[in-house]
Amino acid sequence: MSTGKTVTVVGAGFYGSTTAQRLAEYDVFDTVYLTDIIEGRPEGLALDLNQSRPIEGFETKVVGVTTGTDGSGYEKTAGSDIVVITAGLPRKPGMSRMDLIETNAKIVRQVAEQVAKHSPEAVVIVVSNPLDEMTALAANVTGFPKQRVIGQAGMLDTARFTNFVAEAAGVEVAAVTTLTLGSHGDTMVPVPSACTVNGRPLSEVLEAATIDELVDRTRNGGAEVVALLKTGSAFYAPSAAAARMAKAVAEDSGVVMPVCTWVDGQYGISGVYLGVEAELGAGGVRRVVERDLSDSERAGLVEAAEAVRAKQADVANL
Ligand code: 2OP
Repeated sequence: MSTGKTVTVVGAGFYGSTTAQRLAEYDVFDTVYLTDIIEGRPEGLALDLNQSRPIEGFETKVVGVTTGTDGSGYEKTAGSDIVVITAGLPRKPGMSRMDLIETNAKIVRQVAEQVAKHSPEAVVIVVSNPLDEMTALAANVTGFPKQRVIGQAGMLDTARFTNFVAEAAGVEVAAVTTLTLGSHGDTMVPVPSACTVNGRPLSEVLEAATIDELVDRTRNGGAEVVALLKTGSAFYAPSAAAARMAKAVAEDSGVVMPVCTWVDGQYGISGVYLGVEAELGAGGVRRVVERDLSDSERAGLVEAAEAVRAKQADVANL
């Protein structure tokens, strides 16, 4: 059933266009705007997606909008309830997400200025990399309340971890629960104490050495895909994660998900955008959900907070 909401997806690369497709196919939005600076690309993709409506059975309209670097075109997306920012360059093989910081900061800054101007009440979901820093930048540039600017990472990293555990344990993904917190980068914190297979603690199902390997593979999950693709980065799992976050906001569902959000006192950490679990609703993050962590997991989270805090302070000047 339609929520009557509109969502804008900024950037019509693989990540953006797949996100727009998922959002349209949920059939809960009135309109999905898809924008890009490449003239005709968003309009062409929107036309194609709309022609899939009778087959897939959804009524959501997709509207493509070419935008200029001067901000032209954004007026057509005015009043969006949710904006997903996918704009920015993806990694090349051998690059870290942090190598993108200067280039993507310029792009995300321009986009965030236009979002603030044309959709001042929107909940913003950032997916551009480096994720934690770009989320902090978007919050800074829009000036929106912190709970209305969220980053997508924990859902993706957790999904990767779950997939690896399910494969290693030889069970369905639905039988597995996992969790990752921290940054979407080197200081990602997979949380084995929160992981179960058919309700049993992960440590009773897999050898410690296997769990360590899967934790490592999860931490490098994005780079593994980039190395195989050679051009571009992952987009199926990332778009699934971003679209689920937007759906939770549109439906005001209260679903708890790992996301990058403003942490202010939880886990003894303050004043930083960091991956933690949060309850999502119409206004973005309703509350951060704190759970018991082992000493080493808690230490990992604090380390992640300090690592991203330094970079998030730098980003304000980029
Ligand atoms: C990834 O991890 C795109 O950062 C994203 O694949």
